[in-house]
Amino acid sequence: MKDRLQALEQEAFTSIRSIGDVEELKALRVRYLGKKGELTEILRGMKDVAPDERPVIGSLANDIRARLEEGISSREEELQEQALEIRLRHEQIDVTLPGKPQALGGIHPISAVIEQIEDIFVGMGFEVAEGPEVELDSYNFESLNIPKDHPARDMQDSFYVTPEILLRTHTSPVQVRTMEKKEGQVPVKIICPGKVYRRDDDDATHSHQFHQVEGLVVDRGIAMSELHGILAAFAEKLFGMELETRLRPSYFPFTEPSVEMDISCVQCGGQGCRMCKETGWIEILGAGMVHPRVLEGAGYDSERYTGFAFGMGPDRIALLKYGIDDIRHFYTNDLRFLRQFQSV
Ligand code: DAH
Repeated sequence: MKDRLQALEQEAFTSIRSIGDVEELKALRVRYLGKKGELTEILRGMKDVAPDERPVIGSLANDIRARLEEGISSREEELQEQALEIRLRHEQIDVTLPGKPQALGGIHPISAVIEQIEDIFVGMGFEVAEGPEVELDSYNFESLNIPKDHPARDMQDSFYVTPEILLRTHTSPVQVRTMEKKEGQVPVKIICPGKVYRRDDDDATHSHQFHQVEGLVVDRGIAMSELHGILAAFAEKLFGMELETRLRPSYFPFTEPSVEMDISCVQCGGQGCRMCKETGWIEILGAGMVHPRVLEGAGYDSERYTGFAFGMGPDRIALLKYGIDDIRHFYTNDLRFLRQFQSV
């Protein structure tokens, strides 16, 4: 029995030393020291041992158990240390390696133009206002002096959600929403950039979704001269050059009188070229003196206050500014196109 015990110890130690994995080591502990393990198995034969030898065998068995326990735990520690060392070696960071370059996006040319427009007007004391893209018919048309049967509705073919709700066709409703919020207070001096929607077929110059920046100034004694002065100064800042500007009579239901503002062609300086269709002028916005009916409807006394409003299209301005010939480029997310504006 003594021999069997000693053989078992030797065999167990050989295995312990050759094991390279903590899990296997656990299995080995069970195999030798578990309830149904080999040591227990051998000790079952104790009854056949002569009574005076039993204490010797018993204490030998205990010693072996203790040595095996000890051997297994120290091997376990060893293995854990080795595993840690391997992990650390793998996780080592070589700080001298070149970094991975981060792919940087750019600002979309239309967003860039909107930001430039905002900066210029904020510099002139305007605030930036916002309004909903899903709008009530009453704000989009009615309160802007465009009743249901008005022919001007044909100019802005609309996406209706219900008979009373639509995707806004312009940012002008924000004029009315802002005046209502201000409850008759002056001055009102806002611009409102945002998306607008029209039921147009997409082509080089039309998109069913595009952008507008609306502007509104209301105060005592505002005249057409303020409109022209502010918008001319704006245009020169936006294009970064000296420009001629002219106002042409036009028609919008919510302004009276209404105008369109042209700037001298940014490409040829007014000589005539393809961009300005040989006229020397380029139209960049619609504007006018706020119609008394619009002021009154939004809670402003049109005898005391006057104002001007304007609306422009950043998409069109971006086309002009960057010499792009098709508005669809802005909406097709072609990286070859967008990458050209990374530094704008
Ligand atoms: N809302 C007009 C449009 O979509 C643009 C516009 C013209 C806005 C004149 C104005 C304005 O505020 O005074 O065509």
